[in-house]
Amino acid sequence: MPIRVVASLLLVATLAAAQCPQVHIFGARETTVPPGFGTAGPVVSSIMSAFPGSTSEAIVYPACGGQASCGSVSYASSATQGVAAVANQVNSFNSRCPTTVLVLVGYSQGGQIMDDAYCGGGDTNEGITNTAIPISAAAQKKIAAAIFMGDPRHIPGLSYNVGTCQASGFAPRPAGFQCPFASNIQSYCDAMDPFCCNGSNAATHQGYAVEYGSVALTFVRNKVNAALAGGGSTTTATTPPSNPTGGGGTVQEFGQCGGQGWTGGTACVAPFTCQELNAFFFQCL
Ligand SMILES: *[C@@H]1O[C@H](CO)[C@@H](O)[C@H](O)[C@H]1NC(C)=O
Repeated sequence: MPIRVVASLLLVATLAAAQCPQVHIFGARETTVPPGFGTAGPVVSSIMSAFPGSTSEAIVYPACGGQASCGSVSYASSATQGVAAVANQVNSFNSRCPTTVLVLVGYSQGGQIMDDAYCGGGDTNEGITNTAIPISAAAQKKIAAAIFMGDPRHIPGLSYNVGTCQASGFAPRPAGFQCPFASNIQSYCDAMDPFCCNGSNAATHQGYAVEYGSVALTFVRNKVNAALAGGGSTTTATTPPSNPTGGGGTVQEFGQCGGQGWTGGTACVAPFTCQELNAFFFQCL
């Protein structure tokens, strides 16, 4: 091949890589809301703000439960299409941008399809009998964090449960289920929720982005920073202790000491120095 052709191919490859963001977020909406992120929207937006230059996309699926307003698609058919859509969109993005760190955010039925696509195990409630994880092995490695809110697959006792719910949702995981990526997940569900739990207050189900948005962002930020720093996404990353003295103070070992948007202390206690792990996260090491 002539050198000039090789050089221009290299240039194309470099340009393509340059167009890949450091972080990309997938969001899946809840049943009956119009296409887009639905109630997952504020969570997706907050993650995008925390990582300037990041991009996002909504999962394209019916998000229906039989209602005429969403085309009378049954819940089972909608969820089954949704799981396939998560896998297709995540796998295809990962093929285009294999180094980009990925985040999943799913609300209600959107949480169920993210849960099924990321954790596998099938979903006999919706007729999915294949228990394999449909997200490719390569893409699995790049998923740093997954947020489920009001996920109907909730069962008590999972390590990533957050909230007051002690019962099962309407499409529960079987007893004893374990997700292979448990340490990358937070699943938010409160006792009064009628969909992920056995409560009777639909407003509880719609309130998670407000109630848990900030703790979800902190979880995602730590997981993504660890992945960007090369810590891998499937290993358990330690959360750096927060800067105990606040803005301008001296930061302890492993504490954050800089990065885009950081307003806390930038000086490390001796003998540690502030080291840039990536544009968003400097750490006292
Ligand atoms: C929900 O389930 C929990 C745990 O089994 C139980 O203690 C509680 O009474 C149930 N609540 C309702 C409203 O049925």
